[in-house]
Amino acid sequence: MSTQSPASQPPSGATQADIEKKRGSFSSRNVFIFAAIGSAVGLGNIWRFPKEAFDNGGGAFMVPYIIALLTAGIPFLLLDYVMGHRTRGSAPLAFARTHGKTEWLGWWQVGICFVIAVYYAAILAWSLRYTIFSFGKDWGDDPGTFFGGDFLHASDPAKGVSTDFVAGLLIPLVLVWVAVLVIMALGVQKGVGATSVIFIPILVLAFLVLVVRALFLPGAVDGLEALFTPDWGALSDTGVWAAAYAQIFFSLSIGFGIMITYSSYVGRKVDLTGSGLVVGFANSSFELLCGIGVFSALGFMAQAQGLQISEVAAGGPGLAFVAFPTIINEAPAGVLIGILFFASLILAGITSLVSILEVVISAIRDKFDMSRIGATLAVLVPATVISVFFFSTTSALHVLDIVDNFINKFGILFVAVVSMVVLVWIVRALPDFVDHLEGSGSIRIRGWWPALVAVITPLALAFVLVSDFIDTLETKYGLPDTDYPDWMVNTFGWGLVAAVIVIGVLASLVKWRPDTNLSIPAIPEEENQ
Ligand code: ALA
Repeated sequence: MSTQSPASQPPSGATQADIEKKRGSFSSRNVFIFAAIGSAVGLGNIWRFPKEAFDNGGGAFMVPYIIALLTAGIPFLLLDYVMGHRTRGSAPLAFARTHGKTEWLGWWQVGICFVIAVYYAAILAWSLRYTIFSFGKDWGDDPGTFFGGDFLHASDPAKGVSTDFVAGLLIPLVLVWVAVLVIMALGVQKGVGATSVIFIPILVLAFLVLVVRALFLPGAVDGLEALFTPDWGALSDTGVWAAAYAQIFFSLSIGFGIMITYSSYVGRKVDLTGSGLVVGFANSSFELLCGIGVFSALGFMAQAQGLQISEVAAGGPGLAFVAFPTIINEAPAGVLIGILFFASLILAGITSLVSILEVVISAIRDKFDMSRIGATLAVLVPATVISVFFFSTTSALHVLDIVDNFINKFGILFVAVVSMVVLVWIVRALPDFVDHLEGSGSIRIRGWWPALVAVITPLALAFVLVSDFIDTLETKYGLPDTDYPDWMVNTFGWGLVAAVIVIGVLASLVKWRPDTNLSIPAIPEEENQ
């Protein structure tokens, strides 16, 4: 198969410039970089990274982490960038323009984004409530019991999915969806771009204050020592390497359509390779800051309760909604820590949620002739209904736990490796990609980048995927903590992973709007001068 398709004009009377204007775009490279950092910096940084680092060798984890960033993170980020920037399309259109038979891969990525958005919003809703709880420390003396009982009203996991709605979950969830609806309806620059330009500096500032406060808590040094003491033996454990690669993919927002979509919105003359390095290193720096802040606070908690750090270290909902409230209860100026921490979760999370939804909205707009508002409603109304149905009932945490685990491991990493192998080895698009990146970047990539993208990154990803797959088959998901019924894991885990692939293939069979140009678009006159 060959990817060579002549640059051409759309079949309708509209010029390429008209079409791009209608799609929307970022006003400058800086807005693009802010949006990409806004997408990358999210819950993955704040609550996933510190725990992953602690569990996988502490300071020694930095070695596989940096290797994963350099051998897979940055190379894949550039692959996503070149896909969107060269084709000027959302994920499905980018694939279709690269090679007609690969469109389904774009829709597979769109499906994954829809699924992630539906539960990501729930975590933001919980953070919203907890920001308010922080003022009065409403969780009382036992934040663990409060979170599972008074807040979630969590049902017995063995009972499966519940239809008992909890008003305290439903109302903030609807509020989050309304806020996101407004942002998405405002469009690429005024909504998506502006949100990151405003929120990211506030987030960095808020988090810096939080880290400085946490560093001065008694016991903070013990927390940092626990996080950074290297266990070099961990480097011989393949699971540690798998954890590092998985962390980089989720955290950098690569492999699931986001960076393809964003780079399709930026001017043709932007420096892609330089931007990729800025985004990659900004994300990892913030991640490191999160590790320092979270473990200083956990060090304080361990000392205050006379426990080991390993007994208080938690990730995910346990960190945010149980460990942090405990810290807030006991720390001087705890209310301030609470507000800063939960507001940071909201700020980081909303710019990521917006990017995830933009993948879906952009794809629908490219495929059908829909207005921005029409497409926003077409995506957000069903997303809100599904989100409310599953994540404001008493089984919310259980469904979220299963979906999050499976879609990250067997959705994102799976589609990433398949897309990469198809683009490089089947469609053989790499030479065109190299030319494009060389022509629009300040950093020379010929030589090292193709070698990474063609061999090292897919091998590393395949290795992570297979080891995760074997792990999941060997141990029933959820045990020993939670005994989910088999049907629940099969439906919200494997079933959903398979469903997004089937939906991807089916969506690729639907015809494109009649004015779609399925070749690489020509450069508009005014940009070519
Ligand atoms: N990259 C986003 C995060 O870290 C999805 O949460």
